[in-house]
Amino acid sequence: MSPPPPAPLLDVRHLEVRYGDLVGVADVSLAVGAGQVVALLGSNGAGKTTTLNAIAGLVRPSGGAILWRGEAIGGLPAYAIVGRGLALSPEGWRLFVGQTVEQNLRLGATALADRQRVPELLERVFAIFPRLAERRRQSAGTLSGGERQMLALGRALMSEPKLLMLDEPSLGLAPAVVETLYDTLWRLHGEGLTILLAEQSVPLALEIADHAYVLQTGRTVLDGPARALEDDPEVQRIYLGIRGEAAASR
Ligand SMILES: Nc1ncnc2c1ncn2[C@@H]1O[C@H](COP(=O)(O)OP(=O)(O)OP(=O)(O)O)[C@@H](O)[C@H]1O
Ligand SMILES: [Mg+2]
Repeated sequence: MSPPPPAPLLDVRHLEVRYGDLVGVADVSLAVGAGQVVALLGSNGAGKTTTLNAIAGLVRPSGGAILWRGEAIGGLPAYAIVGRGLALSPEGWRLFVGQTVEQNLRLGATALADRQRVPELLERVFAIFPRLAERRRQSAGTLSGGERQMLALGRALMSEPKLLMLDEPSLGLAPAVVETLYDTLWRLHGEGLTILLAEQSVPLALEIADHAYVLQTGRTVLDGPARALEDDPEVQRIYLGIRGEAAASR
């Protein structure tokens, strides 16, 4: 008999999140193994952000379980979750626009126990994104969209995460910037970082992901190896609306 597969790092089971009377996600289950890149796909309102925010402790689950290395972390405050090694680069970036690039990055390291590591981590982020180094004393409010995305990602990396979660990193960015960003993700993945990535751009996400989950109106409706989903007619069908829109806007 072959040995059982290793327990996933992150295991989300039947997650439910309510916003008052409204249901943000109804039933989402997913697992992320160590070193994997897992994509969370779904069109507008499918529940991607709600799922990531619940894992990151920004919204409280009303049902189900979120297990990190077997420990239930659902409902813990955000700082406690960052402290366990889960970092989110959120939708809309949530930067402190009145503060400098460097101050924003330093805030990412707030949960880090070993303060001595901060300068080294800063330099690592600046090596990944030289453009942030050039603008380290500039206020975040003066950055372009692509630079803000880099800053949000850099800030998440400042906590030395074991799991990096990204909410639509390609949104609103020029194709060349998206390419650089994905090259960076690919490199981080190569260094062993585990990534959970929400994307509306299916081809982009499936190119980098090992495994993908498809959400539809707050539920996981489909999952499988990324390669298999690339040609799945059901995925195409779920995305038909988006693809039509994207094609029309070109
Ligand atoms: N703060 C909120 N209050 C009430 N309803 C919310 C709130 N945030 C999200 N929702 C609802 O929860 C559902 C899931 O939204 P969510 O933002 O998670 O989707 P998404 O997959 O991230 O969409 P998008 O691709 O547009 O970012 C939607 O029906 C949305 O209207
Ligand atoms: Mg979203």
